Amino acid sequence: MIVILDFGSQYSELIARRIRETQVYSEVLSYRTTVEQLRQLNPKGIILSGGPNSVYDQGAPQCDPGIWELGIPVLGVCYGMQLMVQQLGGSVERTDRGEYGKAKIEIDDPTDLLTNVEDNSIMWMSHGDSVTKLPEGFGLLAHTTNTPCAAIAEHDRNLYGVQFHPEVVHSQFGQALIRNFVYHICKCEPTWTTEAFVEESIREIRAKIGDKRVLLALSGGVDSSTLAFLLHRAIGDQLTCMFIDQGFMRKLEPERLVKLFHEQFHIDVAYVNARERFVDAIAGITDPEEKRKRIGHEFIRVFEEESKRLGPFDYLAQGTLYPDVIESADTNVDPQTGERVAVKIKSHHNVGGLPKDLQFKLVEPLRKLFKDEVRKVGRSIGLPEEIVNRQPFPGPGLAIRILGEVTNEKLNILRDADLIVRQEINRAGIYHDVWQAFAVLLPVRSVGVMGDQRTYAYPIVLRCVKSEDGMTADWARIPYDLLETISNRIVNEVKGVNRVVYDITSKPPGTIEWE
Ligand code: XMP
Repeated sequence: MIVILDFGSQYSELIARRIRETQVYSEVLSYRTTVEQLRQLNPKGIILSGGPNSVYDQGAPQCDPGIWELGIPVLGVCYGMQLMVQQLGGSVERTDRGEYGKAKIEIDDPTDLLTNVEDNSIMWMSHGDSVTKLPEGFGLLAHTTNTPCAAIAEHDRNLYGVQFHPEVVHSQFGQALIRNFVYHICKCEPTWTTEAFVEESIREIRAKIGDKRVLLALSGGVDSSTLAFLLHRAIGDQLTCMFIDQGFMRKLEPERLVKLFHEQFHIDVAYVNARERFVDAIAGITDPEEKRKRIGHEFIRVFEEESKRLGPFDYLAQGTLYPDVIESADTNVDPQTGERVAVKIKSHHNVGGLPKDLQFKLVEPLRKLFKDEVRKVGRSIGLPEEIVNRQPFPGPGLAIRILGEVTNEKLNILRDADLIVRQEINRAGIYHDVWQAFAVLLPVRSVGVMGDQRTYAYPIVLRCVKSEDGMTADWARIPYDLLETISNRIVNEVKGVNRVVYDITSKPPGTIEWE
């Protein structure tokens, strides 16, 4: 294992993922992790991340100085390197030659850390401070025009530092450098594989659960589907998968999910048809937040009733992923004040979210995985692409894509229109190029004409966005021909719709969903 000590860098997770791409397990821990804790964890290597501070700032985060004497290789990245230099007696100063963006590195010592890294290749920099004097025993591995110490090493203790960010994609030989550190310097073996993860999880689940019973609320996404598979492999019929159909899923999805689990995985899903209950729960409600709240409450009510009916259960399976458990959550430091600040607030508005006081113990077999690793596991166990690479779908589903009051009639209209959107986006081969593509139904009507007849019907909004993480988004420039096909089909095939409009609002100021 490689441990990454996080000093508040936005790239700490990315470093962890890059390490894992070399098939070596890595964890992100707080920079306050003590030498004693590190000794117990016994990692093969330690990486000190970048961070927003200057090492000479008052209150700037420091690592336990015992780290240098642990006998474990250390690689400092950006702030991490500067901290290494400062703690070991060198100097770091603000110079007028900061470097931001691409920089050409000139290699002075092409051995170990820089093996296979090409001279004059591009590495990505982002620093205002520079190392101006190396600590005793350190040598120079590389420099750039503006950064005299771009890569440094003290071979005796296996201490390394790079001013640039090998983890970002713009660094041409960044991954080669990471591999050198992981394999040659830390002597790690490539043991973190999907197969090994599946085997180990199954062993762990069996040891934890024994002969007890586990309940899993399936949503149809890749996380809960992968979870279901792992648990079923481990404990067979001691697992009960429950799918609550709120009636807000896309057309044919609930049926497909239950069938897939039955046929492909031989897992019988307890299908709970709660469609009427949910539609009743939000009947007449037009306020978006109130709708969301009511759906959330109803979900918990149905979940509790059904788990009593199907139970009793000792454990509840949850699809918690690694980004939710990363210890660095409280380590962000304000560059001006040195105060620790709250990490960015994630928009957690998942109606599948259950209250904490339920009488279950938790089993969370995916808590070590990043989302892309869950996808790999999902794929390896035979989940179809449509689940593995499914676009995000909000917990309250179509209920928040029908503006205002939700009725069965409107749900049927939206389901049909949405199916056409999905079909045509797939047919055009751009399903994976966009973050989400879906239909929204507006509660107003407009006049149209079809076959000499006047129509007075609803408009459908086509929403299609590009995004990295859902936090910001831009509307996708999809071809006019595709817009035309979708519009024609919806107006011709979906009764109750006579107009299609395309949403050309980015986020911000819009949001991706309309409610
Ligand atoms: P907004 O509309 O806030 O959406 O720009 C950002 C991303 O979050 C998804 N979303 C949700 N996901 N439960 C979820 O699990 C929800 O209640 C929910 N609301 C929005 C949305 O689809 C988009 O990808």
